[in-house]
Amino acid sequence: MNISIIGSGYVGLVTGSCLAELGNNVLCVDKDDRKIEKLKKAEIPIYEPGLKELIARNIKNKKLLFSSSIKEAVKKSEIIFIAVGTPSLENGEVDLTDVEDVARNIALNMTEYRLIVEKSTVPVETGEWVKRTISAYIKQKIKFDVASNPEFLREGQAINDFMHPDRIIIGVESKKAKDILANLYKPLNAAILVTNIKSAELIKHASNAFLATKISFINAFSQICDKVGADVKEVAFGMGLDKRIGHSFLDAGAGYGGSCFPKDLDAFINISKKVGYDFRLLKAVKDINEEQKEFILKKIRDVLWMLKDKTIGVLGLAFKPDTDDMRNAPAVSIIKYLQKEGSRVRVYDPQAMEKAKIELMDAKFCDSPYEVCKGSDCLLIITEWNEFKELDFVKVKKMLKRPIIIDARNMYDPGILKKLGFQYMGVGRL
Ligand code: UGA
Repeated sequence: MNISIIGSGYVGLVTGSCLAELGNNVLCVDKDDRKIEKLKKAEIPIYEPGLKELIARNIKNKKLLFSSSIKEAVKKSEIIFIAVGTPSLENGEVDLTDVEDVARNIALNMTEYRLIVEKSTVPVETGEWVKRTISAYIKQKIKFDVASNPEFLREGQAINDFMHPDRIIIGVESKKAKDILANLYKPLNAAILVTNIKSAELIKHASNAFLATKISFINAFSQICDKVGADVKEVAFGMGLDKRIGHSFLDAGAGYGGSCFPKDLDAFINISKKVGYDFRLLKAVKDINEEQKEFILKKIRDVLWMLKDKTIGVLGLAFKPDTDDMRNAPAVSIIKYLQKEGSRVRVYDPQAMEKAKIELMDAKFCDSPYEVCKGSDCLLIITEWNEFKELDFVKVKKMLKRPIIIDARNMYDPGILKKLGFQYMGVGRL
C-alpha cells in the first residue's frame, strides 16, 4: 500500500519504518526541513533500540522516503496517518494546532478518496473535528474517511510493540475504512478490535489512565510497606499471581514520567471535567505520583540529615531505561530539589546525558557510574538501566564517601548490599 505519515517524531518514525518493513511504500513527512534532510541519511533525532537500522534498511530498499511536502503525501498515498505532536497547554489541555493544520492541508490538496487516520494521542472527539475541518476546506466533492488507530508503543521497545501488539484498535465509520486498515495490519496476525471513532479514542485514554493508576497504587503501597516493615516487591508479586491482576506495571519506584502518562492524565482529567465528570480517582493518581518524588527525597534527608554541601551521586536520568527521553523524568525534579537545598549533584546516564544537560546545567556530568561515586555522600539510583545491575560494588564502596545506596527503583538485592557493608534503602522495602 502507499502510505504517508505526517509528523516524523517518535510515533511517526516507528510507525512509518515498521509499515515499510512490512512491505508498504511509506513517505514520512515533517515540516522541519533540516530533520528531513538528516532522516534521508538515516540520522535519527531520538534513541530507540533498532530504529536507526530499520530506517536505514528501508531507505536502501526504497520502501521508505522522506519529504517536507504534505502535498506530495496527499498525492502519493491512499492512507494518510496524522502523527504530529500534541503538546500540553498550561491548563492541562492538549494543543491541537498542528493536527488542525495538517487536516486543513490534507483537505486543500485532496483530489481523490483518502483515508485519514489519527495516530497521535488526541482527546476524544478529535476525529470529529478532523472530519469537520476536512469537509470545510475540501475543494471538490470528494469522498474521504477519518479513522482513529491509537498507538500503544512503549519507548525503548517500540519496534517490538508495533510488530507484536496485544491488540490493534480501529475506530471507523465506514466498511471501506475498516477494510483498508484491517488489510494493512493483516501481516501482524494480531487481534483487531473494530469500533467507532470515539470509542477508539477513549480506549487510548483509558489504557494509559489505568496503567498510571496501577503505578500509583503500588507506589502508595510502597509507603505503607516502609512504615510497617513489609516488602512491596513481595506484595506486588503476591498480588500479581491473581490472574485478574497480573504482574505488570506494579513496580514501585520514583513515579512515572515520560511524554505520555503525565500529559495524558492531565488531558483526560480536563476532558472529563468538560463533559461533566470530576475524575477524582485520576486526580489522586496524579497527586500520588508527585508525592512519590518527595518520598525519595525524604529517604535522602533521613540518612544525610542536612542536604547543604553534601554531594549526591545519581545514576540514571532518563524517565525510564532504553531511552534518552528526559520529558517529565522524575530525575529532573529530584535533582533540582537537591540543588536548591545546596547539594552538589554528580550524574551519569548511558543515553540521556546530552538531553539532560539542557535542564540540569549545574550538575556534574560524569563519564561512568564509578566517576559518579567519587566523593559522593550517597548513591541514588533513579533509572534502572541494565548497565547498573552489574556494578562492581567493592569499587563503588571504595569511591563513595559514605557507603549509602538509595535505590529508587528497587534494582538491587538488599541482603547482598548489606552484606557488602552498604546502608541500603529501597522503595517500600527495608
Ligand atoms: C506508555 C504506555 O505504556 C504505552 O502503551 C503508550 O503507547 C505510551 O505511553 C503512549 O501513550 O505513547 P511509555 O511512556 O513509553 O509508554 O513508557 P512506559 O513503559 O509505559 O513507562 C511509563 C513510566 O512509568 C516510566 O516512567 C516508568 O518508569 C514508569 N513505570 C512503569 C513504573 O514506575 N512502574 C511500572 O511498573 C511501570
